[in-house]
Amino acid sequence: MNHKRVLLIVGGGVAAYKALALVRLLRKAGIAVRPILTAAGARFVTPLSLSALAEDAVRADLFSLGDEAEMGHIQLSRSADLVLVVPATADLMAKAAHGLADDLASTTLLATDKPVMMAPAMNVRMWLHPATRRNLATLKSDGVTFIGPDEGAMACGEYGPGRMAEPEAIFEAVVAALGADLSPGPLAGRHVLVTAGPTAEPIDPVRVLTNRSSGKQGYAIAGALAVLGARVTLVSGPTALAPPLGVDRLNIETALEMEAACRNALPADAAVCVAAVSDWRPDAAFPLKLKKGTGGPPTVSLVENPDILAGLAAAGPHRPGLVVGFAAETHDLEDNARAKLKRKGCDWIVANDVGGGQAGGGAIMGGDENEVLIIDRQGEERWPRAGKAEVARRLAARIAASLSSGGKI
Ligand code: C5P
Repeated sequence: MNHKRVLLIVGGGVAAYKALALVRLLRKAGIAVRPILTAAGARFVTPLSLSALAEDAVRADLFSLGDEAEMGHIQLSRSADLVLVVPATADLMAKAAHGLADDLASTTLLATDKPVMMAPAMNVRMWLHPATRRNLATLKSDGVTFIGPDEGAMACGEYGPGRMAEPEAIFEAVVAALGADLSPGPLAGRHVLVTAGPTAEPIDPVRVLTNRSSGKQGYAIAGALAVLGARVTLVSGPTALAPPLGVDRLNIETALEMEAACRNALPADAAVCVAAVSDWRPDAAFPLKLKKGTGGPPTVSLVENPDILAGLAAAGPHRPGLVVGFAAETHDLEDNARAKLKRKGCDWIVANDVGGGQAGGGAIMGGDENEVLIIDRQGEERWPRAGKAEVARRLAARIAASLSSGGKI
């Protein structure tokens, strides 16, 4: 089973077209690919073809607010098991050898703490130039591994070393470097719906009613399910997180939008509702920004939001085989969670104590750790306090075991 992730930097050279074939091979093997395209690379392949084949958005701009706000180049450089540069141009090699960081690709290469592999491609004279020789030696001593270049006829009409290695050869080197197990995961062929994050209910055009959910636990679960081979639809409220690799994210703001997105995402084999959905919403958002000094504070009247979890769990032709809810409680954890299991009609409740009486929602909400109690109709299971990623892995494994048992466990 494979759950490896490659951060792929596509540099500017004729051989960039071969990067597309490589992406296909990687994706077919279940290896997630997050693409970065340099400005020169974009002269040879389009962001559209790269993102379509990688099934992930192409990152291109170091200063793109969207990318930086979501994850930043530091996180980007660490979110993969391997950083792969295809083709590695003379310029990219020179930048990496000297630690230059003036665009997203070079900054990522400087910021990463992951193994780096390069497949050089350039004109034979550029490859044999002493500067490139020096850069190659420097990069090798920095621990970068190289695949190719091959010797042969080149696009520039010359013959010699500088031709990029073939996609199949790069693929094999990547698989070997990753130690990737290419057998399908236990959730291959399954579709899992995950909700995560808060919702934001508009009060007026600039104000919302929301909560402190960070989305971290839900995102970690979505990622862990994808790692096991599931097709994952992540319906997410506003968060500062980047979608995990291999996950299809649908961004929503309100509970009503989340409900519609979930309904449209069905059928699913399992649904995991981690989102902190606002129980109420203003019955109508004010069309203009509310102003002070116009007859005292406004009155906002609230109406109840639909319960998305209960809706998914309600019997119907599209009920997912396994429906999992979360319960964040400040007191009487077990009793409240057990009551919730019944009331919502779901199969499991993952309950956690978010700590009462603390302004800020306690350490769990927004924190990186979680301590949960899993309650199902058979009984309950308490898991030790662990990182949210570890809780996510355990939960994904439990979901996989349940689905493969046909719901018996
Ligand atoms: O009732 P409570 O909000 O404590 O229940 C929490 C569980 O219900 C979570 O799984 C949450 O995602 C889900 N929920 C929902 N729709 C709501 C409220 C909660 O899906 N409107």
